[in-house]
Amino acid sequence: MAYLIGIDSSTTATKALLIDGKGRIVAVAATEYEFQTPRPLWSEQDPALWWSGAVASIRQVLAASGIDPAAVAGVGLTGQMHGLVLVDAAGQVLRPSILWNDQRTASQCDEIRARLGKAELIRITGNDALTGFTAPKILWVQENEPEIYARIHKILLPKDYVRYRLTGDFATDRAGAGGTLLVELATRDWSPGVVQALGIRPEWLPPTHEGTQITGVVSATAAEATGLRAGTPVVGGGGDQAAQATGVGAVEEGIVALTLGTSGVVFASVDKPFYEAEGRLHAFPHSLPGKWHLMGVMLSAAGSLRWYRDTLAPGVAYDDLLAPAAAIPPGSDGLFFLPYLTGERTPHPDPLARGAFVGLTVRHGQPHMTRAVLEGVAFGLRDSFELMKSAGLSAIRQVRVSGGGAASPLWRQILADVLDSELVTVNTSEGAALGAALLAGVGAGIWPDGETACRETVRVTGSTLPEATASAVYEKSYRLYRALYPALRGVFSELI
Ligand code: XUL
Repeated sequence: MAYLIGIDSSTTATKALLIDGKGRIVAVAATEYEFQTPRPLWSEQDPALWWSGAVASIRQVLAASGIDPAAVAGVGLTGQMHGLVLVDAAGQVLRPSILWNDQRTASQCDEIRARLGKAELIRITGNDALTGFTAPKILWVQENEPEIYARIHKILLPKDYVRYRLTGDFATDRAGAGGTLLVELATRDWSPGVVQALGIRPEWLPPTHEGTQITGVVSATAAEATGLRAGTPVVGGGGDQAAQATGVGAVEEGIVALTLGTSGVVFASVDKPFYEAEGRLHAFPHSLPGKWHLMGVMLSAAGSLRWYRDTLAPGVAYDDLLAPAAAIPPGSDGLFFLPYLTGERTPHPDPLARGAFVGLTVRHGQPHMTRAVLEGVAFGLRDSFELMKSAGLSAIRQVRVSGGGAASPLWRQILADVLDSELVTVNTSEGAALGAALLAGVGAGIWPDGETACRETVRVTGSTLPEATASAVYEKSYRLYRALYPALRGVFSELI
């Protein structure tokens, strides 16, 4: 039997997942770590953590499964997107990675729009300049740390730093590369025009590969560190969202992956390059060749509920916190929650957006507030669906929900009602790491393509249907919710 490993270097842990050639999970291990916020709006992490996390987690899954490492047919990489990793000519990291949730680059985004013109930037890349993306971070280093900028040899994404340590090769995947803002959407490769306009040397950028393509093999040094066999193939893999979508089978047009993790993501696979005219949705290559995707990203989804629990009900189990909220009527008796606790990306690309409870009265108790948090997140996710519809993506056949928040039947029902759409759950719960392992399986020849890998391993396990009465209430609530951010934006911008 052949085995596959998916490695996911997220913001909080590096996970290794070992599956067999039928897609069944054999062993999982995660090594946790922290990230730093040295100043307001900043978010950084030491790349060494991803590599030491990968080494520890790979060793654990090999030991737990007891398999012969020679039976591992391929390794797939995934991880947090957009993070900037700079290495010098000796392969040494030049500074801590500036992460996807770092918000320091508003003026560099303006600069990018000024240099290329917003319309031209969107026409080429499918995207507007957003603080989370990689390109503005490069400009920030140029402006603020010229001595580091002068020593750049390669620009990598987090998962590609793990790839470098694992194989010795500089390479990236096209789904992840899309999140740099330096890729031409149609060609799926670096855009010479954008790269030149931003003063980036083309040789700093690693070659791009499809997610299923082999980019290199495990080196002798990495084999010694991890216990893997030297020569084991490593595939391109994908940014965590494209890999997550693969892991739940969102690889066909009409199937949308809705992920309720710390962030909330609405991800639609499309069969051609497709973008929203104002760049209000992300448009990147998918991790399967010949496929692209549209994506809306809410920065604090289940993260909002975690903040709310930790702050206002510390120590209370989620089930105990959520149970009384089920008895509150849809619409929370006029109480709204805005989930912009860490600024927002979709549909309001605004690092200064803030969270809020709006409409509090003495009649509201904690169960109302809990329900309002669940509803506010659902409204924010609906914003992404509305943008997809207005961009012309009409035929959404199925919404596949996953992530920690999706474990709550109450939250799933609220989402189905707010979206007025059936939600289904699937048998797979290891998300991005599983997607990366499936991509490795295609590269290793176990499946002919990603669609087949998903068809053979991912099954629908449950369904939540919208209730007409609740949907009608939410239709009105959603209209009011939409009016809140424009009304408060001016105040938010002065709350620094
Ligand atoms: C996607 C995004 C996040 C990060 C962290 O655009 O920024 O999903 O990849 O998980």
